[in-house]
Amino acid sequence: LYALLIGPPGAGKGTQAERIVDRYGVCHLATGDMLRAAIRQGTPLGRQVKEIMASGGLVSDEIVVNLIRDNLDTPECSKGFLLDGFPRTLEQAKKLDELLDQRKVKLDAALEFAIKDSVLIERIEGRLIHKASGRTYHTKFNPPKVPGKDDVTGEDLYKRPDDNAESLKKRLAAYHEKTAPLCDYYDKKGILHRIEADNAQATVWAKIQNIFDGCI
Ligand code: AP5
Ligand code: ZN
Repeated sequence: LYALLIGPPGAGKGTQAERIVDRYGVCHLATGDMLRAAIRQGTPLGRQVKEIMASGGLVSDEIVVNLIRDNLDTPECSKGFLLDGFPRTLEQAKKLDELLDQRKVKLDAALEFAIKDSVLIERIEGRLIHKASGRTYHTKFNPPKVPGKDDVTGEDLYKRPDDNAESLKKRLAAYHEKTAPLCDYYDKKGILHRIEADNAQATVWAKIQNIFDGCI
């Protein structure tokens, strides 16, 4: 399965990605997670993107295309991949097409997580993450078994630095201006599927399985 997720901040891409990689055995290539890992490790790349990410801006196309290129051929991706948060601009989508053409891979599906902006603030403000794994919780919608602690490791959960009202505004603006047009791009290729992402997690998951089961 070769698929990608398009949706605004807080739409539930990462949450559903956890289930998708589990069920379909594909790798999870999330550029946001990779960039946060670089920041955590204090690499030169991490230092370069830290401020931009915290403010809610997009990092350069070159940086994220390189991250994807470096990871596409890893053994974890041998059964397929799920791209989450990439591509985010038309330029990135075109570069992805090149990378896939070179590998003779065809995308099976692009899922659009459709959701109103007004729902997203509560999702973002209640989000907690486990830094090492990227596992995601919500204080109200998906609470951890022990408050503030990861279910698997028992380690502390954190808030993302860009999960505040001001950065969210900028992330939403970037989404509408730069990323939403990609839905048209993939619709023209005949692989776009729209999902109502303001439904409960289980409902969204059922819909995704329907779509992907028809692809494999
Ligand atoms: P990235 O990490 O991709 O963040 P994002 O796109 O803003 O998306 P989020 O991770 O915030 O949301 P999500 O859809 O994954 O929601 P989640 O499942 O966690 O990017 C971060 C930054 O990195 C960018 O701003 C940019 O600076 C940079 N970057 C990354 N990729 C880039 C690229 N390609 N080009 C340029 N720059 C790039 O869910 C949110 C919350 O809601 C959770 O608490 C969850 O538990 C809860 N929830 C999920 N589903 C439901 C549901 N159905 N009902 C109720 N609650 C739910
Ligand atoms: Zn995410």
